[in-house]
Amino acid sequence: MKVLVTGAGGLLGKAVTKYFQQSLEVVAFTRQGLNISDYVAVEKAVKDFSPTIIINCAAMARVDACETEWASAEAANIDGPKHLATQAKAIGASLMHISTDYVFDGKKTSPYTIEDQPNPISAYGRSKLLGEEAVIDATGQYFIVRVARLFGIGGNNFGSKIFDYLSAAKKSGNKLKVCNYPVSQATYLPDLVIRLGEIIEKNQSGIYQVTNSGEIVSWYEFTCLAIEMMGLEKDLLTIVDYTDLGLPALRPHYSALRCLLSEKLGLAALRDWQEGVKEIYQHFCEANN
Ligand SMILES: NC(=O)c1ccc[n+]([C@@H]2O[C@H](COP(=O)([O-])OP(=O)(O)OC[C@H]3O[C@@H](n4cnc5c(N)ncnc54)[C@H](OP(=O)(O)O)[C@@H]3O)[C@@H](O)[C@H]2O)c1
Repeated sequence: MKVLVTGAGGLLGKAVTKYFQQSLEVVAFTRQGLNISDYVAVEKAVKDFSPTIIINCAAMARVDACETEWASAEAANIDGPKHLATQAKAIGASLMHISTDYVFDGKKTSPYTIEDQPNPISAYGRSKLLGEEAVIDATGQYFIVRVARLFGIGGNNFGSKIFDYLSAAKKSGNKLKVCNYPVSQATYLPDLVIRLGEIIEKNQSGIYQVTNSGEIVSWYEFTCLAIEMMGLEKDLLTIVDYTDLGLPALRPHYSALRCLLSEKLGLAALRDWQEGVKEIYQHFCEANN
């Protein structure tokens, strides 16, 4: 099996490339190597490598920037997936396209399934939903995988850096600001990439929704777990209401996901996200000893 990865310089793209390279032939393109909104470049890359599967990790994932930079969001999140889907179909390859919980409006109080109607409340969410639709329209064999709150060792985001942030707050005495809303489930990258491989093996077209299992929490509760592991006090934190942050884009208040297709295919729920936090803590301890 030959795998073509796009967006390989990003958080997920790096994890996907590293994982699939262990057992498969992989060609991985960062944005500099392949801009997926360039139709001619996509056509050439796909024809040259002739992959069995394309895993699209490329996206304009800067949620707030999408509000003001719609042309870039459209190019990366709609046109790009469409080009990949068209080229995948042309050579009989499958396309795995990564999407988001932000396609939903967050008004539910129980996990969203694919039977729930998407209703994005941000430009990012709209562009990602239109990207999903473009993939479904253009390709033959597709796996759309909605994920939420990615975190993993070495990632440059809140979930991945939590122990560094807490350690810095303890040293400086400056409290760490965290939001107690919105709530969602986190997705630990090492677990996610294994699940992506399993989905490819099952070879069943459709929309998947993959997060770890466990409590549905805000970044506040996520941080409290890390505080507990470090033996620190919660007074190191200041709770902020995310609506007071003045962020340009709205976020769904509640966006836990349930995957009906994985259940149907007999794929067991991923372990509790807290196990991922424990692994990040172990790594932090080893790196700081
Ligand atoms: N991170 C999360 O918590 C989260 C949550 C839900 C869903 N997702 C989804 O997961 C996927 C991966 O996200 P991520 O967190 O890995 O984002 P990321 O770290 O920002 O990675 C995305 C990569 O795509 C690249 N890119 C942007 N436009 C491109 C284009 N036109 N052609 C080729 N590459 C392009 C970016 O390059 P530049 O950096 O140079 O722009 C970046 O390297 C996305 O589909 C995102 O919507 C992520």
